Amino acid sequence: MISQETKLENKSQINTQTKAVNIKFENFIHTKENEDLFDKTLRVDNILKSGILTGYEGLGMVSVEKLSSVMKLKEKDGYCHDVIMLGSNSYLNVANNPKVVKASKKALEKFGMGMGAVSNYAGICELHRELEEKIAKFYNCEDAIVFPSGYGTNVGVISALCNSEDIIINDSANHASIYDGCQLSGAKIKVYPHANMKYLERILDKIPPEVGGRLIITDGVFSMDGDIAPLDKICTLAQKYNCKVMVDDAHGVGIVGKTGRGSAEFYNVQDKIDLNVGMLSKAPGGLGGYCAAKREVVQYLRLYARTYFFSTALPASVAGGLIEVFNLFEKDKAGRSELMKKTKYLKEKLINAGFDVLNTQSAIIPVMIYDEKKLFKLYQELRMQGVYVNIVTYPAVRRKECRLRLCVMKDLTYGELNKAVEIMKKLVK
Ligand SMILES: Cc1ncc(COP(=O)(O)O)c(C=O)c1O
Repeated sequence: MISQETKLENKSQINTQTKAVNIKFENFIHTKENEDLFDKTLRVDNILKSGILTGYEGLGMVSVEKLSSVMKLKEKDGYCHDVIMLGSNSYLNVANNPKVVKASKKALEKFGMGMGAVSNYAGICELHRELEEKIAKFYNCEDAIVFPSGYGTNVGVISALCNSEDIIINDSANHASIYDGCQLSGAKIKVYPHANMKYLERILDKIPPEVGGRLIITDGVFSMDGDIAPLDKICTLAQKYNCKVMVDDAHGVGIVGKTGRGSAEFYNVQDKIDLNVGMLSKAPGGLGGYCAAKREVVQYLRLYARTYFFSTALPASVAGGLIEVFNLFEKDKAGRSELMKKTKYLKEKLINAGFDVLNTQSAIIPVMIYDEKKLFKLYQELRMQGVYVNIVTYPAVRRKECRLRLCVMKDLTYGELNKAVEIMKKLVK
């Protein structure tokens, strides 16, 4: 996020003075002539120490207590303060649900802290299999595979299934882990502008007939914009052009759709998705990721997905807790409707206050700032006034589309939401 101006004297106090400098993230990626490999790290270190606002002011901050709607954070200078939490992906806060905690504790006591081996070499216990079966049932699929990391799920699934003879077509707003998986696969990569179906069809139409390995990949709920991919149209095009469809529904599972089964349910195309990828780290409140698909596809992934084959399995305590989470999801009893009511309330309040929140359809609300200098100041001032939100700019989005990213949590009260909007209004003025 390193990129701009503005000077901050005391880390916990705002100084509105500005200083013209040109510090861009991408200027620190390459080793310059006559530099050694680590010199660029010193250049970054100097900037972080300089007091110039970079958007990384939250770096080094820690939670002092478990996740809740108002919680204590400790800044890197030791300053402790309460914030209204509008920055967590644990939208339903199920990680602190008593049933989930109890199941997790029971598994911890039975299996200890870690599994000590990769999944294929006896690194899993019966809880991992039970979790996979639950996820498969949730998606009405034949089987599912659980990876120890969400990022590694995308990288592993894509690079296992695609190779240099294949073509992958991506939405431009897809998550970084999808792009990294595409790069690693060696497949030909095509990108269509965000949700632009005409452009997608143009790409599909130009694929040479002899290329049989075709995969369209899209986020379900887009992590930075909060909107839902037009999966109805994508599935129709996929059928027409003989493509497989992969959806990363990291921010949709447990949240959107009639019963919380995600973006495919929202568009009623659940039976048309070939690879149902999701993360266990967002609404499910744990860690890891999964892919639910046909039996033989999952079996193939167990053998060929390197981030599965060569990485130690999830701790049993996480798998045990997640089984309870999917029990709640299955019955739609994790508090989704309360979350959606509060999301609608906050979205309307922000719109009425004059903020641009794009076309969000989920619990992610972007608040567009469009100016990095303002963004960096606002992010810092908001935190110091007791509102925690995430800051988003390059490389996550284009600089001119920089924004604050608010995540609604079910446990937030209407009073807390009102207070957060009042503080935002005051600061933006
Ligand atoms: C859409 C999407 N996919 C994948 C990931 C990676 O998941 P994890 O954080 O569990 O590694 C994220 C996390 O930010 C995400 O937003």
